[in-house]
Amino acid sequence: MIIHNRNLEADPSYRERLHQYEHDVNARMAAGFKVAKKKGPMKIQVVVHVVYKNPDEKLSAAQVKSQIKALNRDYRAANADKSDAPPVWTGLVADAGIEFVLATKDPKGKKTTGITYTKTTRDEFGDDDSVKDPAQGGVKPWNSAKYLNLWSCNLGGGLLGYAQFPGGPATTDGVVILYTAFGTTGVAAVPFNLGRTATHEVGHWLNLRHIWGDTPDCSGGDGVSDTPNAATPNFNKPNFPHITCNNGPSGDMFMNYMDYVDDDTMIMFTPQQVVRMHSALAGPRASVVI
Ligand code: ARG
Ligand code: ZN
Ligand code: CA
Repeated sequence: MIIHNRNLEADPSYRERLHQYEHDVNARMAAGFKVAKKKGPMKIQVVVHVVYKNPDEKLSAAQVKSQIKALNRDYRAANADKSDAPPVWTGLVADAGIEFVLATKDPKGKKTTGITYTKTTRDEFGDDDSVKDPAQGGVKPWNSAKYLNLWSCNLGGGLLGYAQFPGGPATTDGVVILYTAFGTTGVAAVPFNLGRTATHEVGHWLNLRHIWGDTPDCSGGDGVSDTPNAATPNFNKPNFPHITCNNGPSGDMFMNYMDYVDDDTMIMFTPQQVVRMHSALAGPRASVVI
């Protein structure tokens, strides 16, 4: 949110674009916009930029691929742990119908593994987008109109990852993930070793907001009608129900990917969150669909 607010201040037209997206989302919701299933899943090509100083930060191709697999599991509701949804919400576990593939061609049309490796002298990065800037020890995104850019690096300050919403600057578009929270194998570490930091951050990249609405009280929402209003983020593995904002008897939907619980506790998107994501893929993110 800090970066988001900085981007809003730097470019007044960004705020206008975001208003337009909300308008589009609301129109789709009002029209009963359904999950687009006719042509099968929408596909997005991904490039993973591995930025490393120490050898353990240099993720193996297997670890990178495990992240793509985890995204496909979660964005197709193919995760076995969706059965952990409380009975009241099993009907709200939604297939987003989105699939991710590692790029096979780079921006110049050359064959690629979809993984880039960049050696850096930096011990760690922050949320200031320096990992996306060669002058600051990072690496530039590939054309963000065509690729979902993921960066893996060492992040400081306990940060697992961060993302940019649609409509922001192209030079910093994409998602950054801490190397030990990337994928499900290799150096991925408990309790963030199910690839769900990327599931969460790609949700932001597709215009999802946190379920507590980023306010420290009950005033903010996520622009989604089928997630209960919630006060503040949930962490670790909460007990069900956790009631805030008069949202009893079921309480917060803390098992949603857009909360802050452990990887093994977040298991679902809802149909209206899928509408928001599809609205982004029909609007500001349309050019990334292959
Ligand atoms: N931006 C959030 C953070 O850095 C991501 C939280 C993801 N949560 C998770 N269980 N993987 O805290
Ligand atoms: Zn978030
Ligand atoms: Ca809500």
